[in-house]
Amino acid sequence: MNIQYNKSLKPFNTFGIEAQSKEFVEVKSVEELQLLVSMFDFTSRNLLVLGGGSNMLITKNFEGMVIKNSIKGIEVINENEDYVWVKAMAGEVWHEFVLFCIENNYAGVENLSLIPGCVGAAPMQNIGAYGVEIKDTFYSLQAIEVDTSDLVEFTNADCKFGYRESIFKQEAKGKYIIASVTFKLNKHPKFNITYGAIQQTLDKNGITEPTIKSISDAVIEIRTSKLPNPKLLGNAGSFFKNPEIPNEQFEQLKLQFPAIVGFPASAGHTKLAAGWMIEQCGWKGKQVGNTGSHKDQALVLVNYGDATGNEIWQLAMDIQQSVKEKFGVVINPEVNII
Ligand code: FAD
Ligand code: EPU
Repeated sequence: MNIQYNKSLKPFNTFGIEAQSKEFVEVKSVEELQLLVSMFDFTSRNLLVLGGGSNMLITKNFEGMVIKNSIKGIEVINENEDYVWVKAMAGEVWHEFVLFCIENNYAGVENLSLIPGCVGAAPMQNIGAYGVEIKDTFYSLQAIEVDTSDLVEFTNADCKFGYRESIFKQEAKGKYIIASVTFKLNKHPKFNITYGAIQQTLDKNGITEPTIKSISDAVIEIRTSKLPNPKLLGNAGSFFKNPEIPNEQFEQLKLQFPAIVGFPASAGHTKLAAGWMIEQCGWKGKQVGNTGSHKDQALVLVNYGDATGNEIWQLAMDIQQSVKEKFGVVINPEVNII
């Protein structure tokens, strides 16, 4: 086990923010992770588990230990005529896991193609895109409990998944390190093409009988047309969540802003498109120092060069304030602020 000191985190976060971690260790097996957790007292030492660093904004040097989860492996652990259970280790790159499923014709995660990051972080916010969330195929996960270093299991219900939510962002925050995730995938695909852009892309490409691969290709085409590639322009995807408001409030807003974009959400609520509101406030494509809101997707904040985490945070707060002033709605960050 190789503990490194004062390690730069710049290559490990997709915003490309420079910050140092006091201690940094990469783990490659569950046993190694368990040993590490048993060796250190994390009640008196800050802990940050790192996957691909694609959903975090680092605002200061990290005075504690960063554990980079690089535990690899994908295996089929069970199957019957209809379903297959696939266990993926936490350090697997999410899109590599999706490709494994596509190659083997296992359906259920094709709409989640090209989401950056690792398998272990996917349950944290119940990643979602194009009408699908991981809760739809999630079967269970195994995690190391930080206090005891025991390996414990969580079922789908245990995880309390919601829109960009799970128990790991609430009462279990900081208490577990996810080691592996098991998915229950379908051998007989039922495609979800409810998200308009997918059907439009299939039509454009002349595809009348979709396959897992053609849906994945359509999703990749849509994503690359508007989301900046973090290798070229630092970002962490949507900076804010789309806010949910009561239907009555939505009807009121529609009177004032007839073009406002909203979708049915949980009972009696409408989910507003935060990107639309941010655009209406004049932020889309605007550059502020080294930071800005992306030209093709206002919800994505970007680092044009050497922005600090605090500069991006300041921009986020200014955007949040202007949306609140114009629409009376609070938009909250989706990214984890470190
Ligand atoms: P990290 O950023 O490394 O970590 C995120 C959080 O999870 C941190 O709090 C971290 O401590 C914790 N964590 C990480 N691994 C573990 C573990 N093994 N155990 C315990 N805690 C852990 N998200 C979507 O939902 N839908 C999208 O469509 C989407 N599109 C994106 C597009 C772009 C261009 C980018 C840059 C990001 C996008 N995201 C999207 C956000 C991001 O990709 C996901 O949240 C992803 O799951 C983060 O994975 P990660 O490994 O990079 O997590
Ligand atoms: N819109 C605008 N202007 C913008 C951006 C969006 O008017 O600058 C409008 C669009 O025209 C559309 C609506 O807002 O009518 C929704 O836009 P889009 O389909 O791009 O999706 P989104 O709501 O902005 C969400 C997720 C994404 C996910 C996509 C596709 C959140 C916070 N974001 O974005 O997830 O990929 O839907 O499902 O829910 C992420 O979490 O990091 C992420 C990228």
